[in-house]
Amino acid sequence: MKSVLSRRDVLLGSTALVVSSIVVSTAGAQAQGRASFDRPVAVPPIDAGTVVDGVRVYGLNIQTGKTEFFEGLQAETHGINGNYLGPVLRMRSDEIVRFEVTNSLRHASTLHWHGMNVPARADGGPHQVIESGELWTPEFKVQQVASTMWYHSHQLNETGGQVWLGLAGMIFIDDDTSDSLPLPSDYGVDDLPLVLQDRRFNRDGAMPYSVSRHDEMAGVIGDIPVVNGTVSPYFDVTTEKLRLRLLNGANASIYNLEFSDGRQFVQIASDGGLLAEPVPLTNLRLAPGERAEIIVDFSADETVLLRSVAASSRRGFGMGMMMGGVQSPEFDLIEFRADARLSPSAPVPDKLASLPAVSAQDAARTRKFLLEMPGMGPMRMLGLGSGFTINGNEMDIDRIDEVVKMGETEIWEFTNAGPMIHPIHIHNTQFRILNRDGRPAAPNEAGLKDTVVINPDEVVRIVIRFDNYTDAERPYMYHCHILEHEDAGMMGQFTVV
Ligand code: C2O
Ligand code: CU
Ligand code: CU
Repeated sequence: MKSVLSRRDVLLGSTALVVSSIVVSTAGAQAQGRASFDRPVAVPPIDAGTVVDGVRVYGLNIQTGKTEFFEGLQAETHGINGNYLGPVLRMRSDEIVRFEVTNSLRHASTLHWHGMNVPARADGGPHQVIESGELWTPEFKVQQVASTMWYHSHQLNETGGQVWLGLAGMIFIDDDTSDSLPLPSDYGVDDLPLVLQDRRFNRDGAMPYSVSRHDEMAGVIGDIPVVNGTVSPYFDVTTEKLRLRLLNGANASIYNLEFSDGRQFVQIASDGGLLAEPVPLTNLRLAPGERAEIIVDFSADETVLLRSVAASSRRGFGMGMMMGGVQSPEFDLIEFRADARLSPSAPVPDKLASLPAVSAQDAARTRKFLLEMPGMGPMRMLGLGSGFTINGNEMDIDRIDEVVKMGETEIWEFTNAGPMIHPIHIHNTQFRILNRDGRPAAPNEAGLKDTVVINPDEVVRIVIRFDNYTDAERPYMYHCHILEHEDAGMMGQFTVV
């Protein structure tokens, strides 16, 4: 008997496990491969810290825990101030924040503030290792506009395993603009964070991180979706409009999100903040590291699922599948159940934020980045290294790849020479997409971004500038956010001077 709990087992309830939370309700549902959604989705606690002498201070403990993803079965997990994942850290633009991070694990870890402008020493990347038992206290001024950011472990070569076990959480940033807009903002009621992930489980409910040869290539993609740490979750909708702050917190999966009835929704924010105006969509692609805020309308008494669908028709994807790189799992993530009476919500404003037009006009220079995978390039032919490279190099913590001048606008051009999608993330800034193969960005990608999908064979140009913090010694990272690619070396380092 195999020891791995398959999605089929879960759906059909055919294992000894037959956990009550995922037994299928009817034969009809089985035929459609539908699980029943009978666990209320976990809503992460909000942590607004404590203001001490004008500084907002958060106490964060990186710890081990036990999580019952399935009733009666425990998995060893990691969390921040909890068993799995961490609290939503709430803060405001322009205030000073300090994180008092204790590492209670038996091994080293880090916490990185993904999407935020931070001094290099406070970045929480591979250079800010917190040894077991140590305390790390970065402090900086919040330079962002209102947005949804996140934090996660960034331990060199071990990020995949540490995030898999649970070292991630969300950050909500508010500002005067977001305060003044009539957007749903009642936390856990009509303003809901959703950390979207997928995991693999053993029959005993354990969730070990294991990377097969195939996973080294494709990344670790689970067959069981987990939302805010809940398997088979539902959420009770009590308002006409629901704002979802979506984070793709998966190791490797690229979600193509849709509602089961194909309903339209509007996206109001991308990675770094509000879009200029709401963008109507029926499908939203979200790659690891990316965030999107959407607003969805509900009618009384209805039930609808948020799901990820396959993307076989998408450009370049066929090749990726041939390479064993199936990047988009197909499954239902969460069920929304609308109450018999919904409280009214204000209409979504037509104008959200003012965003300057993207312009490459005063770009001082263009930097080019070539993304390659194993099987390509001379290193792999010689059997050297992992083969996951940027400009022919694997990550080397002792090498600075790029030196950038603060305040100077540049174009960064990413060319994907391989068969898989690579979501590229750059630390310490929010950038804008100039074009994809010469075409302007889609409206929902036209705002502030810190992570951008580079499709197979595609050339993506972004306009980028680093406005705060210089440090000639300590570098920031740019990397693929498929964590197994990052851990295999698809990462480089730059300083801002
Ligand atoms: Cu979300 Cu360099 O990481
Ligand atoms: Cu980051
Ligand atoms: Cu990649």
